[in-house]
Amino acid sequence: MSPHTDTLRTLNSGGAPSDVEISFNNVSKSWGSNQVLRGLNFEVAPGEKVSIIGPSGSGKTTILRILMTLETPDEGVVTVGGDILWDAKPGVKNKETKQTIATRRKVGMVFQQFNLFPHMTVLENVIEAPIHVLGISKAEATERAVDLLELVGLKEHMKHTPPELSGGQQQRVAIARALAMRPRVMLFDEPTSALDPELIGEVLNVIRRLATTTDMTMLMVTHEMRFAQEISDRVVMFDKGVTVEAGPPEQIFKNPQQERTKQFLKAVNPYSRQCENSMSDGCVEQALAGADSGEPYAGENGPHGGLVGADDGLAEFGFERRDQVVGGQVGARDDDRPGIRCVGFPDELCRASVGHRPHV
Ligand SMILES: Nc1ncnc2c1ncn2[C@@H]1O[C@H](COP(=O)(O)OP(=O)(O)OP(=O)(O)O)[C@@H](O)[C@H]1O
Ligand SMILES: [Mg+2]
Repeated sequence: MSPHTDTLRTLNSGGAPSDVEISFNNVSKSWGSNQVLRGLNFEVAPGEKVSIIGPSGSGKTTILRILMTLETPDEGVVTVGGDILWDAKPGVKNKETKQTIATRRKVGMVFQQFNLFPHMTVLENVIEAPIHVLGISKAEATERAVDLLELVGLKEHMKHTPPELSGGQQQRVAIARALAMRPRVMLFDEPTSALDPELIGEVLNVIRRLATTTDMTMLMVTHEMRFAQEISDRVVMFDKGVTVEAGPPEQIFKNPQQERTKQFLKAVNPYSRQCENSMSDGCVEQALAGADSGEPYAGENGPHGGLVGADDGLAEFGFERRDQVVGGQVGARDDDRPGIRCVGFPDELCRASVGHRPHV
């Protein structure tokens, strides 16, 4: 990690010290009669990793886009690193000012659809904004870009263009590109939702690494509940423009206090979604959660298979994956089986799906 540690350390420098990295104070936003944010109050501490969950259309992306100054709030105050990004008075149209632009530069965002420049190489994508927006030299921008591309595992692809890469690789380029602007706050808007299931893990691994090795503030909208549980300091359940419930991941996922949160978590139950026809990260991780809790799983034993078992400390599962049926066991928590066992489950798939969880 040594070259990367230096690269990432510089990302957090500068800016006024503040106890609150992001704050939304009574923020409202409507499109016509559709009031998307309703007097939202919400804070994120410096270095905190926060996941936002909530139903479609509830305003999650709007929160991130306001922080990127891609949307303007109708009312309320938004600050980043103690500096005002928006100070919106009702009835007065917001305008970007020098101050807004300077504050907005503290924030980087990774979009659902990557948003890379398709005609530029990977390297050109990463150096473009540092040169043209930050005004740093091409040589310096290139040196840092190479370091960041190494961090996301794509150094050997720097001369390729985005259409020559897989979705997972493109999203990793997008992460490097955002990091190249040295943001102190990183926003992720469902960064894996446009990816094929087998590519999700490689992107989550990069985000996991950023979350665990840097003190960057991270705000992530995600449907990968198990991942949110793993990397977040705090999870915010959001609906109809307001916060329904916020707390540590154990509380929100294992002991939600609000009925709306319970309903939502049931509706996005990964057995019925992610496990269908796939070996996605979240699916296998739910198997592990089952092993942990000792609860029997009925799973979704429909045409696509799903989780079955397990009340003996092992989670068993079976899937129909493409035209092949695979099944296996993962676990185990007891001392004499410290690793992951894949029984009747192709080794390669097993490693790809669960190999990154060293603590299992
Ligand atoms: N530019 C826009 N013009 C009009 N309506 C918009 C615009 N952007 C968002 N909306 C509306 O605002 C609401 C919230 O949208 P937003 O994208 O923030 O939701 P979300 O929680 O991110 O949903 P999803 O989980 O589907 O991504 C939706 O009803 C959406 O249709
Ligand atoms: Mg969204």
